[in-house]
Amino acid sequence: MYGLVKKIMFQLQPESAHDIVEWSLSRIGRYTPALLSPFAKRFFVVNERLNQSLFGTTFAHPVGLGAGFDKNATMLKGLMALGFGHIEFGTITPKAQPGNPKPRLFRFPKEESIQNAMGFNNDGLERIKARLQAHYPFAIPLGANIGKNRLTPPQNALEDYRTLINGLNDLCDYMVINVSSPNTPGLRDLQNETFISELFSMAKEITMKPILLKIAPDMPHESAISLCQCALEHGASGIVATNTTTDYSLLDGAKEFGGLSGKVLREKSAAFFRAIAQTFYGKTTLISVGGIDSAQEAYARILDGASLVQIYSAFIFKGPSLNRDINEGILSLMDRDGFHHINEAIGANR
Ligand SMILES: Cc1cc2nc3c(=O)[nH]c(=O)nc-3n(C[C@H](O)[C@H](O)[C@H](O)COP(=O)(O)O)c2cc1C
Repeated sequence: MYGLVKKIMFQLQPESAHDIVEWSLSRIGRYTPALLSPFAKRFFVVNERLNQSLFGTTFAHPVGLGAGFDKNATMLKGLMALGFGHIEFGTITPKAQPGNPKPRLFRFPKEESIQNAMGFNNDGLERIKARLQAHYPFAIPLGANIGKNRLTPPQNALEDYRTLINGLNDLCDYMVINVSSPNTPGLRDLQNETFISELFSMAKEITMKPILLKIAPDMPHESAISLCQCALEHGASGIVATNTTTDYSLLDGAKEFGGLSGKVLREKSAAFFRAIAQTFYGKTTLISVGGIDSAQEAYARILDGASLVQIYSAFIFKGPSLNRDINEGILSLMDRDGFHHINEAIGANR
């Protein structure tokens, strides 16, 4: 079935295809939620061996949707029915903004990879807040991924994050600080210890919500470890690794802007995650994202120390059955290795 949907969608410009998916999933969820239940039965894996309690929230299984697919939190019910165990919506900025000029989203089907330069196109805090007020608390954990507006100068960036944390405090289960997108000029410069320590210190004063740091895979591993250490010392509840890469040498035909994701990112992201986990496994919650497209890859990240994994690009290329396949595959691999519960597998390689 997804083969047919994909064939049609891949005839369209990637962003038009995404708009159609958003239109459909948001309306099905709103007007005919009963239609979703056959999908949920098919795609959502329920098995107590995969349940986890992390930062005060129960995750039914470890596979979630990476940030950027549901930027405006319009598709939550539909995406849950397609099998995701948690959804990270956003990136949300305080004010609505259109993002970068189009075209800004490119598929590479042969390489199962994506290049995007979206630039935090989103409806802005107030509209998204109103939407979330109708849904939250939600049936699965919701993460709010937050970033600064493009036009906010670096010296005012902290205020953008303060506004977002205050605004979303009662409308999500965790938040993720995004200073790792390559598509907002200057954003990655905020991946420095001065800013990160100020930001998490400020956050601790205004919220009890768990706040995680999402990082890019392009900095040296040692610098990333220092940055994560700094975030954790100042109150971060976990690390999400990684965002897209700006290493364009990974993909023949890549443009010289935006970020790469999917299969071409896999090795880089996995190695980066491994380096982070080597230092921080057992000290905080780790989420691995980047090039995950199978149960084997998800399980490898779990053995390396990931409590949760997220997918984005592979969802486009393989469809929602990937959620079921990854979870069922993880259960088989746990059987093979003699783990009864996922908690025994997490970090088993450490
Ligand atoms: C089109 C697109 C838009 C994205 N937008 C965001 C975003 O707004 N915020 C964010 O933190 N990550 C964003 N990402 C990054 C993903 O969440 C994820 O970290 C990255 O794509 C690597 O995972 P993947 O290889 O499974 O796609 C985006 C990725 C894509 C492909």
